[in-house]
Amino acid sequence: MTPAPAAASRLIILGIETSCDETAAAVIARGADGRGEILSNIVHSQIADHADYGGVVPEIAARAHLEALEPVVRAALREAGATLDDIHGVAATAGPGLIGGLLVGLTFGKAVAAARDLPFVAVNHLEGHALTVGLTEGLAPLYLLLLVSGGHTQLIAVHDVGRYEQLATTLDDAAGEVFDKTAKLLGLEFPGGPAVERWAARGDPARFAFPRPMMGRAEPDFSFSGLKTALRHAAAPLAPLRDQDIADLCASFQAAVAEALQDRVAGAMDRFATGLEPGALKRFVVAGGVAANGAIKTALAQAAAARGFSLHAPPAHLCTDNAAMIAWAGAERLSRGASSALDAPARPRWPLSQLSL
Ligand code: KG4
Ligand code: ZN
Repeated sequence: MTPAPAAASRLIILGIETSCDETAAAVIARGADGRGEILSNIVHSQIADHADYGGVVPEIAARAHLEALEPVVRAALREAGATLDDIHGVAATAGPGLIGGLLVGLTFGKAVAAARDLPFVAVNHLEGHALTVGLTEGLAPLYLLLLVSGGHTQLIAVHDVGRYEQLATTLDDAAGEVFDKTAKLLGLEFPGGPAVERWAARGDPARFAFPRPMMGRAEPDFSFSGLKTALRHAAAPLAPLRDQDIADLCASFQAAVAEALQDRVAGAMDRFATGLEPGALKRFVVAGGVAANGAIKTALAQAAAARGFSLHAPPAHLCTDNAAMIAWAGAERLSRGASSALDAPARPRWPLSQLSL
């Protein structure tokens, strides 16, 4: 394997993402000045493959990744106007995620790197989400991060690339997971987050007084399972649900999640701010699929504004899973001289706090 390229040169990186139900490939550039540029970003969604099951079926996902990955990688290179001769490194998601899909993308990425004698980076998917704002707006650590996706709800102090401190996590379901389960309960399409948000736009957020889990509690963590139960109890007596019932349930549920997140984030901001050096900028980043939700972003913006934090969020299509963020995390690591061995394992569980450079 060739050594990782020196930081001073422009890097063009191929990224591969297969940890869940998106088969994605992207080509990004990282300038010597640290600025990022997306040259291509192809996301092939498997939503149709899983729709009948109301959730991601791991075996179906792995097979679909296997079929889609090569054409998706070819499309990413084509759209970037690049060939493998132009690529300086390959980055693929190694975890956390579904083992079958991870193995498909990781093995493909290693094979390309080995065949072309390119440096390889086994990327942590969560690090991809955590660093996306570096690609989209040049924001570098230190910042407070809320990572809200289908599998994770965490507050993290991002100290540096490769240095993450977990401040809070969910005690039960992830925020995206409760959106998906709520959608399933109400008979909406999969994935649930965007569907619930669409229905909520026509509903009354005050019709149902759902609990705001953990609100006002001193512990920093999240919890959503009580909210899920409350929704089920509110929906049951209304069956069969009219369209207005569904819209009101969605709006009331979304308002409860937004307010619960706002409360948890507000507390974390206060604690994070006390640990900052005098004069340091107070910066808050939200990332992950749930960050695409408008009501949630508004609630978080209010918490940030009240505490003098700037709010940073990638555009919606870079909040949900994509390979540009994986390529970028790979570029950030390679530019610091860090690469992975070609026997780097797939890791279904891989907390951010275990990373180093
Ligand atoms: O980051 P992501 O694409 O995949 C994971 O790493 O989990 O996040 C997917 C999650 C799903 O649970 C989906 O329902 C949720 O993000 N999501 C949303 C919205 N768009 C996606 N949740 C609420 N509102 C949205 N607009
Ligand atoms: Zn994700």
